[in-house]
Amino acid sequence: MSKLLRIVLLPGDGIGPEVTEAARRLADLAAEKAGLSVVWESHPFGGAAIDSAGEPFPDETRNACVAADAILLGAIGGPSWDGIEPERRPEKGLLSLRQTLGAFANLRPVQVPASLAHLSVLPQENVAGTDLIVVRELTGGIYFGEPRHYAADEAYDTMRYTADEIDRIAHVAFRAARQRGGRVTSVDKANVLASSRLWRDRVTRLHRAEYEDVALDHLYVDNAAMQIVRDPRAFDVILTANLFGDILSDLASTLAGSLGVLPSASVGGITPLFEPVHGSAPDLTGRNVANPIAAMLSAAMLFETAGHPEPATCIRQSVDSALCAGYMTGDLTPVGLSTTAFVDKVCQEVENSTSQTAAY
Ligand code: IPM
Ligand code: MN
Repeated sequence: MSKLLRIVLLPGDGIGPEVTEAARRLADLAAEKAGLSVVWESHPFGGAAIDSAGEPFPDETRNACVAADAILLGAIGGPSWDGIEPERRPEKGLLSLRQTLGAFANLRPVQVPASLAHLSVLPQENVAGTDLIVVRELTGGIYFGEPRHYAADEAYDTMRYTADEIDRIAHVAFRAARQRGGRVTSVDKANVLASSRLWRDRVTRLHRAEYEDVALDHLYVDNAAMQIVRDPRAFDVILTANLFGDILSDLASTLAGSLGVLPSASVGGITPLFEPVHGSAPDLTGRNVANPIAAMLSAAMLFETAGHPEPATCIRQSVDSALCAGYMTGDLTPVGLSTTAFVDKVCQEVENSTSQTAAY
C-alpha cells in the first residue's frame, strides 16, 4: 500500500473554500497520525474557474483530476453566475467532471446517531438510529440523455437508460447491501416511465441471478419520498436513478438535522470524487459560519476508498466526539461556533485521542 496520497482539491465557490480548508486541516492531522503523507494540489473549478479561466472546468483542472489519486470538491455555483448561458454555468463544470471521470456511482450515506436525533426536523423517536445509503446513478438518465432542446415555445429532456448502465449501478447497491443490512430498495417510476420499467426489469433479473441473499423491494419514487420521512429506519440501501437520487438525498438529509453534515463519494470512474451533498450556500459565504462536517466526512470517505481506514476512522470519531461534547456550528444549534472554532475543537479531539493512546 502506497503511503503517499495525491489529492486534487477543488474548493469551488461560496462556502466551498471554507469547508474544504477545514477538511484539509483535519485530514492532514489524521493522515499524519497514521503515517500517511498527503500532497494537495488546488485547482480552479466552477464559478471561480469561469472568473479566472473563462470556463467552469478548464483543461488544466481536468488533467490534474485525471492524474490524481482522489479529488475533494467543495461546492459550486452562486448568484454571480446565474445569468451565464447554460453551457458555461458552474453546474455544467460539475456534470462534465463526473462524466469525464466516468464516476457513475454516487454514494450518499445518511446516519442519525441517537445523540443527534433531537436536531432533526422530524420526531426524534422516528429518526434515531437511521442508517441508510442512497446509491444514485450519476452519469446517465435525464441529466445526460439526448436529445434535449430548449426554445421559447417548447423544451424537452430525455430520460434514457441502457441495460448495462442499470446493471452496473445495481451491482454497486447489492454489494453495498452485503456489507451492511442486507436490504436494497430500488426506487423508480415504473408505473409511468419506460426507462423505469427497464430499470425494474434489470434490477429484478440481476437480483435473481446473483444476489438472492440480499432482500430486494421496489418503490415508486413518490411513495419512497413519503416512506423515507415516515419511517427512515426501514431503509438500508436505496438504489435509484440520477434525478430521483438527487431529490431523495436532499430529502433524506433533513433526517440528519442539517444538509451540512452529509458527505458523498462518486466512484467507479478514473479517479474517485468526494464532495459534500450541500451546495455553495451563498448566504453563508465568507462569514465563517458554514458547517464543515460534510466536507470532513467526505475526506473520511476518501481515505477509506483509497485503502486507508485509519485516518478515516480518526476523522469520524473526532467529529463525533466534538458533537457529543456539544460543539457545533450555527445550523445545528442557536449558540453555534464559527467554522474555524469548530475545526479547532475537532482537531483538539484528534490530539486528545493521540495523547490518550500514548498514555496507555
Ligand atoms: C448534487 C447537485 C448537482 C446535481 C448540481 C449542482 C448539478 O445538486 O450534487 O446533488 O444535481 O447533481
Ligand atoms: Mn442535489
